[in-house]
Amino acid sequence: MSGFDLIIRNGTVVTASDLMRCDIGVRGGKVVALAEHLEGAQRIIDATGKHVLPGGVDGHCHLDQPMSDGSRMADDFASGTLAAACGGTTTVIPFACQTKGHSIISAVEDYHRRADGKALVDYAFHLIVTDPGPRVLREELPQLIADGYTSFKIYMTYDDLKLDDRQILDVLALAKREGAMAMIHAENSDCIAWLTALLESTGRTAPRFHAAARPMAVEREATHRAIALSELTEVPILIVHVSGREAVAQIQWAQNRGLRIYAETCPQYLYLTADDLGREGFEGAKCICSPPPRDKANQQIIWDALASGVFQVFSSDHAPFRFNDAQGKMIKGANAPFRYVPNGVPGIETRLPLLFDGVSKGRLSMNQFVALTATNVAKIYGLYPRKGTIAVGGDADLVIWNTRRDVTITNSLLHHNVDYTPYEGITVRGWPETVLSRGEIVVERGKPAGTPGRGQFLPCAQPEPARQKMPD
Ligand code: URP
Ligand code: ZN
Ligand code: ZN
Repeated sequence: MSGFDLIIRNGTVVTASDLMRCDIGVRGGKVVALAEHLEGAQRIIDATGKHVLPGGVDGHCHLDQPMSDGSRMADDFASGTLAAACGGTTTVIPFACQTKGHSIISAVEDYHRRADGKALVDYAFHLIVTDPGPRVLREELPQLIADGYTSFKIYMTYDDLKLDDRQILDVLALAKREGAMAMIHAENSDCIAWLTALLESTGRTAPRFHAAARPMAVEREATHRAIALSELTEVPILIVHVSGREAVAQIQWAQNRGLRIYAETCPQYLYLTADDLGREGFEGAKCICSPPPRDKANQQIIWDALASGVFQVFSSDHAPFRFNDAQGKMIKGANAPFRYVPNGVPGIETRLPLLFDGVSKGRLSMNQFVALTATNVAKIYGLYPRKGTIAVGGDADLVIWNTRRDVTITNSLLHHNVDYTPYEGITVRGWPETVLSRGEIVVERGKPAGTPGRGQFLPCAQPEPARQKMPD
């Protein structure tokens, strides 16, 4: 076969199942050939000595999401998708968030306006369901699911977002009926409120006490409850941003019982600890996220659970609040009690290199890396096989990795619009160098090369877990 737009020659191609030396032929934005040797292209990229992986799919990131506390996310779809691409991610799935009392369809329309003409790489939307009234359940969600918004997040905490158990059951029952995928933020809201009040009553309001307000028991209880609600409604769920031993044990217990419980973790639980919240002055606020990072032993448990298959998905949970900013971490000042600090850490660009270092250190295979960061994500959220793999017929979303390059992470290297990275000074081995989205080079040898606005919206099909029927 000849007449390719592009050939990537001599690379080692890695998928979730294989590792093979072959050329990749691209035409019309798609992979059209995989063969030992291909000829006849307008452009040839020599990948000798490099690995070629599917572009990452970030199944959990926040971009330009309206906030109820007056804070503002620093990354819109332009800077957020640029940073994603520079970190080897070619598909992002941020969240269109319903405001309580309002239509969820209008939240989706608003979110499209925020994305239109800005994204460098392709994007889909999850929904966040905060107010599942009859109209939302009977009309809006079924219509949205049919239109390609097939996954949604449910919060068990945060006053402006959380659902009670009965509401969660309603939404899970709907997910079952309509074939959608529910993601759950599992922390017990009342316990957090009670512990926060107790800490505040004794003046313990510095950032490090954020971790004390959200101990592992709070996450364990909510994880167990979410599993029970999933079991009652007989619908798969995915527990997001799992932080450590206690929640992992609940998920393993459920998986061992044959329940369809999926799980996600994030870089902050591999690289940060609660001690980082105690950094000098207000610096600890940079690492405030929920659930909070735990300790070194828990980091090891998360690495082990990634390797053993407890987790299917590794996401960034990029939450881009600037540190030195009156609309960011300092919205209530440089000494504000931890409860007023916007939650979340930036990480859309560092997600893949931080996990890849685990491949370099022998903790994970390259196939596991691809599964966790691209293939499983695309399957679970209805984007496979267009995204998440390297296969004939799929989009040519390809990343050429230099697996031997050592990089010390520092914020000035990154392309997000946040004024810090929590991973400052960490050295990793392996870095994405050249990134293609639908066959177009968007990052060339580490330098941005694409045109903002070229990214396309991706309607999602039915998620793979929702298609599998439970045995009677
Ligand atoms: O602290 C976090 N994780 N913030 C982002 C929002 C969320 O709950 O995922
Ligand atoms: Zn969450
Ligand atoms: Zn999040």
